[in-house]
Amino acid sequence: MAQQQYLWWQTGIIYQVYPRSFQDSDGDGVGDLKGIISRLDHLKWLGVTAVWISPIYPSPMADFGYDISDYCGIHPLFGTMDDFDQLLKEVHKRDMKLILDLVPNHSSDQHPWFQESRSSKDNPKRDWYIWQDPKEDGSEPNNWLSVFGGSAWEWDEKTGQYYYHAFLKEQPDLNWRNPKLQQAMYDVMRFWLDKGVDGFRVDVMWHMIKDEQLRDNPPNPEYKEEQATYEQLLPSYSTDQPEVHDIVAQMRALTDKYNERVIIGEIYLPIHRLVTYYGEDNQGAHLPFNFTLVNLDWDATKLKANIDEYEGALPEGGWPNWVLGNHDQKRIASRVGAAQARTAAMLLLTLCGTPTIYYGDELGMQNVPIPEDQVQDPQGLNMPGKNLSRDPERTPMQWDNSKNAGFSSGEPWLPLADNYEEVNVAAQKEKEDSMILLHRQLIQLRQSEPALKIGNYNPVSVDAPLLAYLREHEETRYLIILNLSSKACTFDTPHNSYSGKIILSTHQNRKEQGLQKSIEIQGDEGLIVKLEN
Ligand code: GLC
Ligand code: MG
Repeated sequence: MAQQQYLWWQTGIIYQVYPRSFQDSDGDGVGDLKGIISRLDHLKWLGVTAVWISPIYPSPMADFGYDISDYCGIHPLFGTMDDFDQLLKEVHKRDMKLILDLVPNHSSDQHPWFQESRSSKDNPKRDWYIWQDPKEDGSEPNNWLSVFGGSAWEWDEKTGQYYYHAFLKEQPDLNWRNPKLQQAMYDVMRFWLDKGVDGFRVDVMWHMIKDEQLRDNPPNPEYKEEQATYEQLLPSYSTDQPEVHDIVAQMRALTDKYNERVIIGEIYLPIHRLVTYYGEDNQGAHLPFNFTLVNLDWDATKLKANIDEYEGALPEGGWPNWVLGNHDQKRIASRVGAAQARTAAMLLLTLCGTPTIYYGDELGMQNVPIPEDQVQDPQGLNMPGKNLSRDPERTPMQWDNSKNAGFSSGEPWLPLADNYEEVNVAAQKEKEDSMILLHRQLIQLRQSEPALKIGNYNPVSVDAPLLAYLREHEETRYLIILNLSSKACTFDTPHNSYSGKIILSTHQNRKEQGLQKSIEIQGDEGLIVKLEN
């Protein structure tokens, strides 16, 4: 049998950079491309193999770059196209890959396409966006809600129609049923692929096509007051429409004309819907982002059920992936606590499938509370009192104990965590039991052991609060045991009495270095055991 060949996006580890907050080079308090370049050696040292950067394009920044006014440019805040070319070169020089954010669902209302589209009803670009007449009483064409609060329809006085925006009114949705718009966005993809970028993370992929008849969404019977108002309805007709898969397949086909590029889809859907984004015969997204760990309670029984369901739902040949956090979600160390965050890191980096690490999580960075009068995120500002602002997980990277944690010589756009003098890259590099060194060890182990990198996943039946599984490749087997609680407990090896050598523990004070049938697991401890039988 021929040896299966694995590609970089299967064997690698992705690291998400939120560019505004990674490293500022010019003292304006906002991170930039030159800043990222200056920190590439850190990423190489950490061992990650691919860097995904959130949007760096010209943008009025109504949604901090996810409102794009020129898909083929660089925002001066981040630098110039020369800086970008330099970044790409420097990433490749270090044998790493660069993934850009593609935001095809909506543009900025300042994009020339929208400016033309809104100029008159018979403008050739009118149909590039979703325009609708009001109902007879003048109200919105249907009941759809914006993710960021309020109606998803905005009235345009001049032309007497509404336009649809799934997010801010400054982010009108593009009409993916229009072939010209499709071609224009494919040109954008080619522009960056021709430059040599290694792929795209596609923003809100499951939103891209809406019901042709724009039918009303049904009410969500489980809606709770504290949730975002968007959750009042089930987005049955505004998202996850069957036709979206044709678009994804076209993006994939375009990408496949280039050598080894990747399409990652941002998709928040239950597992059985999520896996349809691999496409027919796996000709859809290479990696539909798997956010199940982000939304689940941190509970061994639920995690096990979730992992097994995901593994079981994957189509044949579909490559799995795992995520603990991103720029839209509460940080993992705040969700589960500092001690469990170590176990979570072991989980992320020992599961089967490509892991994505959110910047700063390698330090155990926490959500930083932002005083109400300093909130910047529109999601927080539009729905106050619901704790929906995403600023807390977007604060500046903590590099060292100097002013502003080495992030910027100016006033940072968001405040720094007040513990940055202890929690920072420089300090943790010197500290034997630090989060960053744990990440580095986990990464090195994963990358050097085929069983952890590409091996099969097999669940091991143990009771909560333990979670255990095997990773197996040829003759090599690893057993991973994670204690999801802060209480010590015993792991009794089921069935065939595993024995083996402990390769890595989340705890420095682990004394036993071997497993024989059973072993005491400390509170919050995770173990990686190389089996000998
Ligand atoms: C995605 C992005 C998020 C943004 C939204 C609208 O969910 O991750 O940050 O606000 O799309 O573009
Ligand atoms: Mg700057």
